[in-house]
Amino acid sequence: MAGPRTPSLVADVHSARDAALKSIADSSDTAGLRKVAAELANKKSPLNAVRAQLGKVADAEEKKAVGRALSEASQAIEEALATAQAALEAAEFAAQVANEKMDLTEYLTESRRGTAHIVTQAMEHLEDVFVGLGFQVAEGPEVETDFYNFEALNMPASHPARSEFDTMFIEPHSPNHQPNTVLLRTHTSPVQIRVMQSWKPPIYAIMPGRVFRRDTPDATHMPVFHQIEGLVVDKGITFAHLAGIIEAFTKAFFGSDFTSRLRPSFFPFTEPSAEFDIRRANGSWIELGGCGMVHPNVLRAGGIDPEEYTGFAFGFGIDRMAKERHAVDDIREMYTNDLRFLRQFT
Ligand code: FA5
Repeated sequence: MAGPRTPSLVADVHSARDAALKSIADSSDTAGLRKVAAELANKKSPLNAVRAQLGKVADAEEKKAVGRALSEASQAIEEALATAQAALEAAEFAAQVANEKMDLTEYLTESRRGTAHIVTQAMEHLEDVFVGLGFQVAEGPEVETDFYNFEALNMPASHPARSEFDTMFIEPHSPNHQPNTVLLRTHTSPVQIRVMQSWKPPIYAIMPGRVFRRDTPDATHMPVFHQIEGLVVDKGITFAHLAGIIEAFTKAFFGSDFTSRLRPSFFPFTEPSAEFDIRRANGSWIELGGCGMVHPNVLRAGGIDPEEYTGFAFGFGIDRMAKERHAVDDIREMYTNDLRFLRQFT
């Protein structure tokens, strides 16, 4: 039975191989190629049909010839599949990249160029002024713990001053979570503690950032606003240093025509404490922030010995500073995103 079938079996292998190579070459994408590969792997594919007949070839030489043809064909097909797969993948990736490419270049005329928001400008200006005075900039988290926001600042759970900071609490979904212990920070003062815990004195730091309170918006209040905290801890620091820094800062930020005053006040984390006001052009005063000598309990909470070091701290409202600096009537104007308003401050 060997004689007449064998030459045609080798020929069958060659024609099956050629047909397979053609289908591979004709595949225009990886999905099509996958289909071709599956058809070739099928038991009924022309090449596998020949393979199935191999056992019936009686002549050993002929069997060898058909076997060699089969193995050469399989190898050629495998190589062609791999080469086509790599080429099609590369082409598809290049097409995807070209398709998803974003053209971020846009020619803007000078009149359409964007600028930083009025509050960002104020924050950057404040940083410049204080860095010029020798301060370093630090940051802390906006989501804080009760410990940093209150407890370490000499406001234990029962302290009446806590009610002044109308707080927005976060309730994480954790079975171990104690209610009212995670919150949106109501001021930047918690960063004082974080800085004291991680830096060694002498400390000359400013800490700008966003803060949150359940305040109803009005001409001078927003529920989300910005503060800049200041902290100095060194040997021999007195209230006179604090007053001097505030005066230097007022002149540098608002200009030499502005006057500031310190008014006695109370904060649990400073002793003595003061309110810092500036005088407007119309003669009225506006409160910009609080300040005072860091309370010994706060120094201790930050890991600093109050017998060795003293310090002062301040916390100013940046939005109010921007408002006063640019003579904006109403703080809410700064957050309506009205470009006609914002473009005035470029
Ligand atoms: C504090 O937040 C203290 N942590 C400040 C401080 C720091 C005192 C360090 C002593 C030492 P007070 O609640 O007064 O203090 O807020 C400080 C400033 O933030 C205010 O003077 C005001 O300028 C600004 N401010 C307060 N509430 C708002 C609000 N809702 N919208 C805009 N600005 C506000």
